[in-house]
Amino acid sequence: MVLAQEMWNHGAQMREAFAKRKLARPQITAQELTDMLVYLQNLPETRHLATNFAFPPSDSGDALFQSKGCSGCHTGKLALEGLLRTRP
Ligand code: HEC
Repeated sequence: MVLAQEMWNHGAQMREAFAKRKLARPQITAQELTDMLVYLQNLPETRHLATNFAFPPSDSGDALFQSKGCSGCHTGKLALEGLLRTRP
């Protein structure tokens, strides 16, 4: 929920960033979002965060994060492990 909410809340900024890089917005299924969530939840930086529900670690989240182009922007200062770490 929080991931979807944060993506929604930052939608305008992401839309701008996609446009600037001339990238198409990827379509993401619920399953794909879940897989990426699991990946993001299990990073060393975010693992300690309280979760209302937990999924077992998954291998495909990382691959999806790459293949959907998320990692193209979300590295360095924009790395989600850094941005999400500051979330309550
Ligand atoms: C074209 C660049 C770009 C791509 C590709 C991209 N994003 Fe983003 N994203 C951004 C920008 C810019 C922000 C706003 C960052 C900020 O608030 O400082 C953002 C913010 C976010 C946030 C909110 C982070 C926070 O501060 O809480 C999430 C979650 C997120 N993106 C997830 C994703 C996921 C998942 C994908 C892959 C499907 C993705 N993004 C692909 C540029 C991108």
